[in-house]
Amino acid sequence: MAGRGKWKSSFGFVLAAAGSAVGLGNIWRFPYVTGKNGGALFLLVYLVAVVLLGLSVMYAELSLGRYTQRNPVGAFNAIKPGSIWRGVGFLGVITGVGILSYYSVIAGWTLYYMFTSAAGKFGEGITQAQVDRIFSSFTSSPFLTVLLLFVFILITSYVVSKGISSGIERWTGILMPLLFVILVFLSIYSLTLPGASRGLKFYLSPDFSKLNFNIILQAIGQAFFSLSLGMGAMITYGSYLSKEENLFAAGIEVVTFDTLVAFLAGIVIFPAVFTFNLSPSEGPSLIFKTLPFIFSKLPLGRIFGTLFFILLAIAALTSTISLVEVATSYLVDERKVRRPKAAFLVGAAAFVIGIPSALATSVKPFTNFVLGKDFLSFMDFIWANLSLPIGGLLLSIFVGYVWGARKAAKEIRGYRQGKFPGEDIWIFLIKYLVPVALLLILGSILI
Ligand code: PFF
Repeated sequence: MAGRGKWKSSFGFVLAAAGSAVGLGNIWRFPYVTGKNGGALFLLVYLVAVVLLGLSVMYAELSLGRYTQRNPVGAFNAIKPGSIWRGVGFLGVITGVGILSYYSVIAGWTLYYMFTSAAGKFGEGITQAQVDRIFSSFTSSPFLTVLLLFVFILITSYVVSKGISSGIERWTGILMPLLFVILVFLSIYSLTLPGASRGLKFYLSPDFSKLNFNIILQAIGQAFFSLSLGMGAMITYGSYLSKEENLFAAGIEVVTFDTLVAFLAGIVIFPAVFTFNLSPSEGPSLIFKTLPFIFSKLPLGRIFGTLFFILLAIAALTSTISLVEVATSYLVDERKVRRPKAAFLVGAAAFVIGIPSALATSVKPFTNFVLGKDFLSFMDFIWANLSLPIGGLLLSIFVGYVWGARKAAKEIRGYRQGKFPGEDIWIFLIKYLVPVALLLILGSILI
């Protein structure tokens, strides 16, 4: 479609897709969910989910997006006009706003930690009590948490309002690699800590007797969340991609990079958790209670800490951009809303829905909402653990049977002759393994 915009280069696309994938999901969510679910066994199930389900769904989304050159609702509609399948696209649009609403709350926390580090609060000899106090005095302030939520969404909407290539491509180029380098550096440091061997044992030596449905469900949810799958973000990003690009390589690059970043985050966090006598099952506050100790011990820790939180905030931004982009592209393509207006409308909706999540650490009843979960954790469960896998399930059925896996494979292949490497395996996975696995695991929750 004319006037929708395109990525400037293939590398720009890989960067933008990696920018969407790499974010709080890798550095905040992955370590705490891994810690809560027993460590190494979770990591193993997660890696299996990434390879078998994640990569397969990644190709399904990218090919559907590029083939139709549409937003998620338009993409389903282009292949099966007027059918109920566009509802899957809608579910994605809504899921994007849902995730954006609480994701931006945590992004706001990273902004606060950036300032706290810059102010030199994570100085040498910092105690457990001080670290706890910094966390709780900030998160118990409704004013600060809501304000930072607002600021973060506003920045995101502003970037998205500027359009895809000038807005999104530009942010990612140098900053993602820089974040990666810092993580490598921090993980090397963590490995020298006295608790490193206990941390690594927890993280890398699985106890298979602990395997259960909940771990599998959490691992699948984490894989979808981390790879930005199941809600059409990769359909949308694929739709801005020109026909010449090699989807096969792009998919592998994005998945590998994303998984590496998450893995490294674990290498940074768990040795430190065991060194400083923290609990791996701490929950969403895990990295905010662990990292200050690392920065307090590190030479130039104040600068490092500040830089780290700046980069983490930017990684979060390149992810929130993709969350806003899904609903924005829908409004622009299907509802003919002007891009800037659409981007700010989506942001405003997410801000309002996000307020209870911002209050989940301070104001009743959001601190203990349902099922023993605070509001933010409840939202996270609904959108990440349920909605994304449901979206992935429906998408795999759609691509495997309605559109047809062979046609999708042709799109992945592009203009090149012959099958892409592993084409028949991919077809098997997307038609049989992905839907059956997701159906079983989602069904088991109901029972
Ligand atoms: N993948 C992002 C992360 O790991 O932080 C979060 C996310 C972005 C999830 C976009 C879903 C999405 F569509």
